[in-house]
Amino acid sequence: MTDILRGKRLEPMDELALKITSSVEADKRIQKAVVYINMAHVLALYNARAISKEDMTKIMKALSEELGGFPLDYRYEDVHMSLEQDLSLKIGDIAGHIGLAKSRNDQVATAIRLELREELLSLMESLEALIENILNVSSENVKTFFITFTHLQPAQASTGAHWLLSYAWAFLRDMERLKMAYAMVDMSPMGSAANAGSLVPIDRYEEAEMLGFSGLIENTLDAVSARDFIFDALYSITSISLNLSKLSADIIAFMSLGILDLDDKFVSTSSIMPQKRNPVVAEIVRSKSSILMSNLIGAMEIVRGLNSSYNLDLQEITPKLWASIDEISMILKVMSGMVLGIKFNQKKAEELAKKAFVTASDLAEFISLKYSVPFREAHHIVGEAVKGSEEGEELASTLIELLKQKGINVNAEEINKILNPTISIESKITAGGPHPKESLRQINMINLKLKEFEDFVSTSKRKIEKTYQMMINKGWY
Ligand code: ARG
Repeated sequence: MTDILRGKRLEPMDELALKITSSVEADKRIQKAVVYINMAHVLALYNARAISKEDMTKIMKALSEELGGFPLDYRYEDVHMSLEQDLSLKIGDIAGHIGLAKSRNDQVATAIRLELREELLSLMESLEALIENILNVSSENVKTFFITFTHLQPAQASTGAHWLLSYAWAFLRDMERLKMAYAMVDMSPMGSAANAGSLVPIDRYEEAEMLGFSGLIENTLDAVSARDFIFDALYSITSISLNLSKLSADIIAFMSLGILDLDDKFVSTSSIMPQKRNPVVAEIVRSKSSILMSNLIGAMEIVRGLNSSYNLDLQEITPKLWASIDEISMILKVMSGMVLGIKFNQKKAEELAKKAFVTASDLAEFISLKYSVPFREAHHIVGEAVKGSEEGEELASTLIELLKQKGINVNAEEINKILNPTISIESKITAGGPHPKESLRQINMINLKLKEFEDFVSTSKRKIEKTYQMMINKGWY
């Protein structure tokens, strides 16, 4: 076949060399974006008086048909040449105009950004769904007794909502990260051509606007060279996955302690031990962050030491981006479902709380506050009482005895009140703490923030949709 790219300059490429340098597999993802870019470019060429109205009209019409799909063939190296090839089969030589003032270098950078823009918006929607589910389960559990841990040892008295809301905030920050990444992605490299512009007086600002970008990558060399926008996206995704991993690890540990359970839909059993309910989904989600992290580091490794401008090495970054997006979309959705089925076992949590003295810190604080005992001393007294209690003595009476030696008289009733884990939750007024009122306040705050993100996503989606529709509708009339 006559090679649309190699022309009379080069003999055909080695078959295997062609295969390893082709990007058609990953290019499926940007196929539509490439057509839109070509539409904007053809309009820009016409506005720059570089092509006739007649040619512009013909090409625009043919391009709009290409939006329905065209064959991607590795023999043309990539989607860009496959499109030009298909277009030339359909409208002949005038298809060749699309190559004017444009390179695959600016085109691929633009196409990745167009596709990534939409992917980030749909990730924001999936993340919002997860946060909403967390809020729903939280609002049903603002008074559900639960415990916190440090070093995976029982720590303090808390509630189911307080634990879950810690994740809602973390995911809300991830939402902000996705939004920041979006701003980095939403800038146009188009019109830079190979890396230093062209003779055609293309209006790069207009081309950016036609593609619905919020801004321009001003420097043409930077435009074809930069992949940091991909790192921003990959980092946001990795951060979500690390939070999902932590959530999974908690779920696994809490299930093992019997203080939390999942819906059957998210557990598996053993082929030999019929009693088992294994949190296998959480285990897989826990491990996924490692894959996402390696995609981020792997992508950065490709540019480390690489010269500026376009080098084909950059092509190896894109599949990592799409792979990470597919992974994170999947685990976000699965975790949304899993969270909805979380059941707290309050009774077990209370038993563990008592056995593990989760109110010991409350007691030390109480003694310190009420009797002006320096906290460290109060800490030692309670620690001694806890030790005695582990050896079979009664905690309150040991404590009363120890305090008496310091000249402090307390009664068993007030000690037992402070020791009561449920009362502990009601007594703490710390902002953001486990008090039910604080959880309700947090739920309201998070809901308000979610609304802002929701508006951002719908406004951005409308803007993208409108710009594409404008190109499809008006171009050639
Ligand atoms: N297939 C390439 C990529 O995905 C497009 C740019 C190729 N440019 C080039 N000069 N060979 O990055």
